Amino acid sequence: MAALAAGVAMARPAFAQAPAAPASMPPQPGDFIVSELGTEALTPARIPLARGPMLGWAMAPDGTVRKADFMNQLQLFRFEPAELSPEATALAGEGVLALSVICTHAGCPVSEWLGDEGLLACPCHGSRFNPKENGAVTQGPAVRKLPQLGLTVTDGKLVVAAPFDSRVGGDEFGAEDR
Ligand code: FES
Repeated sequence: MAALAAGVAMARPAFAQAPAAPASMPPQPGDFIVSELGTEALTPARIPLARGPMLGWAMAPDGTVRKADFMNQLQLFRFEPAELSPEATALAGEGVLALSVICTHAGCPVSEWLGDEGLLACPCHGSRFNPKENGAVTQGPAVRKLPQLGLTVTDGKLVVAAPFDSRVGGDEFGAEDR
């Protein structure tokens, strides 16, 4: 028993990690959604319908935009709800989806929109993702879908309802969990 207790004690980290600054924290339930350069809480109607992504961030109720960590960046879409898969619908707010920008293969920004196919493409190695299907991979080398943030609409504003549904970040080249 004593040996077990000693083992547990040795496994503790030497230093406790300082909590992340609010501007670096991942999106939190109750946060608003703002545009890439904005500080005004967005309504669903501000997201173009059936178009490519609009970049955005989460903003804490005190006005802190959580943009100090690029891993927090969002790409926002609005589609007719009937077009969405059940998984995407469960995390959408009146047809608005918020997906991570960070490619799950090796962490590049997924920055290309293939409008004819309705797919996102990563310029680094060509992975493709379907925003209407909860960020599902339609072409590798990525093997993991893009994380989707849970949204709802409160008093007409887009609000974070749930954390990302999977880990944000790439799986290759030493990417770390967060
Ligand atoms: S980092 Fe996106 S496909 Fe490799």
